[in-house]
Amino acid sequence: MDKNEVRESTVIAMGMNGEGVLKDEGKVVFVPFAMTGEKIRYRVLKTSSNCTYGKVVEILTPAEDRIRPKCPVYGKCGGCQLQHVRYATQLKIKEDNIANCFRKIAFSDVKVQPTVRGENEFGYRNKLQLPISVDKTGKTIIGFYAENSHRVVPVSDCPINAVWTADIISAFNEYFDLTGIKGYCEETHTGDIREIAVKDVKGKLIITVVATTDVLPFKEKLLEILQNKVKYTFALYLNVNTSHNNVIFSEKFIHLYGNKDFGADMLGIRYRVGVQSFMQVNDCVAAKLYSMVNTLAEADEDTVIIDAYSGAGLMTALLSKRAKKAIGIEIVPEAVNLANALASQNGLSEKITNYQGKCEEIMPDIIEREKANGSKIVVVLDPPRKGCDLKVIDAVKNSGADKIIYVSCKPSTLARDVGLITGTLCHDGSKIEKSETVNGKYIINSVRPFDMFAQTKHIETLCELVRSE
Ligand SMILES: C[S@@+](CC[C@H](N)C(=O)[O-])C[C@H]1O[C@@H](n2cnc3c(N)ncnc32)[C@H](O)[C@@H]1O
Repeated sequence: MDKNEVRESTVIAMGMNGEGVLKDEGKVVFVPFAMTGEKIRYRVLKTSSNCTYGKVVEILTPAEDRIRPKCPVYGKCGGCQLQHVRYATQLKIKEDNIANCFRKIAFSDVKVQPTVRGENEFGYRNKLQLPISVDKTGKTIIGFYAENSHRVVPVSDCPINAVWTADIISAFNEYFDLTGIKGYCEETHTGDIREIAVKDVKGKLIITVVATTDVLPFKEKLLEILQNKVKYTFALYLNVNTSHNNVIFSEKFIHLYGNKDFGADMLGIRYRVGVQSFMQVNDCVAAKLYSMVNTLAEADEDTVIIDAYSGAGLMTALLSKRAKKAIGIEIVPEAVNLANALASQNGLSEKITNYQGKCEEIMPDIIEREKANGSKIVVVLDPPRKGCDLKVIDAVKNSGADKIIYVSCKPSTLARDVGLITGTLCHDGSKIEKSETVNGKYIINSVRPFDMFAQTKHIETLCELVRSE
């Protein structure tokens, strides 16, 4: 098999990234946008002893579940990987991927429950991030990155994002055309504007322009255009980012217009979202997820909830209502301030303590203190994609908690961390390997996906662990 060779084969499975997987001449080949059962003609893009990547040239026999994608730049933009797949089949693919991760990474056979879905398969995202660049002619372009690249694919709308997306893009295009402001070029580190980010807090928008300058050029013009084109209340921030790396935001946010943050309501909890606070991208699925976490926690007036990676504190507040108290741990100071304000706004300050810091640094002591108090503990973990630090895993494993509820947006790190907690995996401080004998203090009680990210390869998973004795 040589690079650029065009070959024919049949797809036998779906991979973790939503791509088709086939075996050809003894090699495992990954082909994006191909589906299980399809006979395809594909071009070999890259081949090595480990794996081979191909590109579809022609679908010879399409799968029954193949559908026409909604988006005109689907396949070019890296945002979605599964728009060509009927929605019910997307869910099945993701459920299988979760089970495979547990089997291959954690050596655990788990029954994955049917996915909890949102109301909308499109238009569900409340968070938009648009890189700004320049094309070959020097024109400023707004778009999304191509898969695994920093090449911007220009777009005028996005079907998985909220209805205001086209208006935002159109407004910024007008602003760039009228003012001649240049998008950022990553190679030469030239240009004024790097990114536009928008958060939708239940119909109120926080718009952030990431620029290389301390002052937003033609600010009044931009405000005038946004007021004409975007029929929503909005706030405007400038983020000053002069770094030469890929990190989107610097620490320096400057409030330019409108409210500093916005309030909303979910499951009876009033909360505020600021420019830096994390929020789940799909409000409908997030509400279902939080509600399920609350049900599984089974907290009563003796329970202490330790909510690690607690963000702006919405779940902490919800969990605290039935518990004796809830402890939130979060690294971002602004999110902790919002979480404290949220606790007070909901009359829950007496029941909630929010700590600012790294879970790996402060959580072990918090657990030890609650253990020493004889508290009945429930731990909730909701880490970023990379999962939990080993110090967090060890502390949780030995916490004596009645339950551990792990919310994850990456099945592979979830499987790894759960394997370590249940004892199918062990570590020596850095290297993780399969345990010789399994005698963990916790077992998996349920694994349930929540489709927070329809049309994409991503999935949110809720894993409930209970004590083994
Ligand atoms: C997936 S979010 C979950 C937030 C929250 N549970 C929610 O549902 O909105 C992960 C959160 O962990 C925070 N975080 C990341 N690394 C952390 C660390 N080492 N220690 C504490 N918090 C961390 C992030 O700032 C983010 O708010």
